[in-house]
Amino acid sequence: PPLPDPAPLVARIRTIPDWPKPGVLFRDITPLLLDPQAFRLLVDTFVIRYMHEKIDRVAGIDARGFIIGSVVAHQLNAGFIPIRKAGKLPFTTLRERYTLEYGEAEVEIHTDAIEPGARALLIDDLIATGGTMVAAANLLTRLGANVVETAAIIDLPALGGSARLREAGFSVFTLCS
Ligand code: PRP
Ligand code: ADE
Repeated sequence: PPLPDPAPLVARIRTIPDWPKPGVLFRDITPLLLDPQAFRLLVDTFVIRYMHEKIDRVAGIDARGFIIGSVVAHQLNAGFIPIRKAGKLPFTTLRERYTLEYGEAEVEIHTDAIEPGARALLIDDLIATGGTMVAAANLLTRLGANVVETAAIIDLPALGGSARLREAGFSVFTLCS
């Protein structure tokens, strides 16, 4: 099916200059989440795109990826995988280090989160340098998962993240740039 027009979503993304550091234009999705129709349109767009893709698990990235990813997982009848900042997951984990627009971090996944060959959809709110999404996609790949697509609401193409993901062999879908 055709995807809904993303314009009502784009209209509810707020830009905060110089946050959390000077020079960063922070794209804030909280107005979109506050609006029931916009939030539904957001979730529906991802659900329509992936409803025939036999997604076994949706992986969401800590923290904003959890908000969208868990709802999409529910609607797709898929399990949800939290990919978390280091030190938060209690069981055996795999870990990847990465750099982002304003710092450095590590993400982790539980080793029993997905089985080899299972189909995973990876979701976050935004792709900037792509460091976070590449690290998360690498975790899923290391567990043998098939990363069907990496998806986000917002791409910041000037920061090169979506291009970097594609160069690494991952499919990328974003609702706006
Ligand atoms: C933000 C955003 C993405 C990541 C994108 O998360 O939600 O996960 O940065 O940047 P990148 O493409 O350069 O890696 P952040 O690490 O600020 O954490 P939060 O979700 O807890 O706010
Ligand atoms: N994560 C990394 N860069 C960001 C930005 N410009 N706005 C919101 N989240 C981000």
